[in-house]
Amino acid sequence: METSVLPSAPRAHWSSRWAFVLATAGSAIGLGNIWKFPYMTGTNGGSAFVLVYLACITLIGVPLLMAETLLGRRGQGNPYDAMTTVAREAGASGFWRVIGLIGIVGALLILSFYSVVAGWILEYATRAAGGFSGITRAAAEAGFAALLADPARLVAWHTVFMALTVVVVAGGVTSGIERANRIMMPGLFALIMLLIVYGTLTADMPAALRFMFHFDPAAVTREVVFSAMGHSFFTLSLGMGAIMTYGSYLERHTSIARTCFYVALADTGIALLAGLAIFAIVFAQGLAPAAGPGLILQTLPLAFAQMPGGQIVGILFFVLVVFAAWTSSISLLEPFVSLLIERFGVRRAVAAWASGTGVWLLGVAVCLSFNAWSGVRLFELGIFDLLDALTTKILMPVSGLLIAVFVAWVMQRGHVREEIALPHSGFRLWQGTLRYVSPLAIVAIFLHVTGLAG
Ligand code: TRP
Repeated sequence: METSVLPSAPRAHWSSRWAFVLATAGSAIGLGNIWKFPYMTGTNGGSAFVLVYLACITLIGVPLLMAETLLGRRGQGNPYDAMTTVAREAGASGFWRVIGLIGIVGALLILSFYSVVAGWILEYATRAAGGFSGITRAAAEAGFAALLADPARLVAWHTVFMALTVVVVAGGVTSGIERANRIMMPGLFALIMLLIVYGTLTADMPAALRFMFHFDPAAVTREVVFSAMGHSFFTLSLGMGAIMTYGSYLERHTSIARTCFYVALADTGIALLAGLAIFAIVFAQGLAPAAGPGLILQTLPLAFAQMPGGQIVGILFFVLVVFAAWTSSISLLEPFVSLLIERFGVRRAVAAWASGTGVWLLGVAVCLSFNAWSGVRLFELGIFDLLDALTTKILMPVSGLLIAVFVAWVMQRGHVREEIALPHSGFRLWQGTLRYVSPLAIVAIFLHVTGLAG
């Protein structure tokens, strides 16, 4: 882990396969698992969403995770330069650099609202310190509404979180936080398991299981499929150059297939467990599963108020979630910063603070979209929902489609084979999926949603 430094040149490499797994899992596991997955499951009809999401992870997510890692390792650079290198090697047009560009811009857009939500979690860490004892369902709901109505508070916490992100990226040495993550991630896992045990003993776990896994084909609507596909990209950090950037630090001899499999498994496992923990409480308390982005913040305080040691558990939980968000936000800023350094010779600290300030400004607009600017709407969406939909549902799948086509159809097979050292049958299975299944699924879902088909 000592070598998990992100300098410009020469490119450092992860000290071991585990360093890459941990950093990539750190990028993947974040608010997407703990905050977004439960609320999306709740607003999209439960099991219908969960099962389509699992199918998307398997058929699109994992093959693409491998493909994007491969591009990073082969291209050895920030997403823009890496794509330039691999396109040249394949004798292909420079057009393929758009993958790098979409990724870098998309990641900054995601970071703008990601940081605001991480700010909510920071606020709740301090509220947990005050104790939630005696909180009622109505008070939990009102508590979240009050936060959204308070622009100064939203901006203050958003500022704190952006500063945390920039400090690490500006330092260029992620080893400290990666090392901390070795304790934080298992800690988060342990606390989620604790919530599962709590939910099983005192809340309604059977209802949670039914809600998440009892499949009802009729509930699978266009919107559900579109949302589930988008979320499978979001949760694995796909298509935004983050995985490509981390892949560029991966040693030659490590198995991309195996590492990607571990990352996807850990990411999916955490999301499902977090979902079960939340919904057990939701149903026991008679809360609305479709409450939206505030779901976990309206739910968990009720549990922390009642469980023994709930004050400590509550603080710990929210602090660990902030950590998980932190390792993700770093990966959202790093691609643009490494572009500024490697292509334009900007100093790392300058690059990090300048880009962080730009993202911070957009985040301020996101904060205002919950209150003063709630009337600002485009395509019937406010600024927060618009940024989420644009990145999750459009930019990531488009970039993912381009990555699949490039790796499976444009790159020379021999070069791909060098990177994916799987036994023959495993390689064929992966390549076949990436060639036909993943791109067709993405295109089919797009056509279906726009109503051009079906
Ligand atoms: N995957 C992270 C999460 O689930 C968010 C994230 C980090 C991300 N880096 C990304 C999403 C790059 C898309 C692209 O919280």
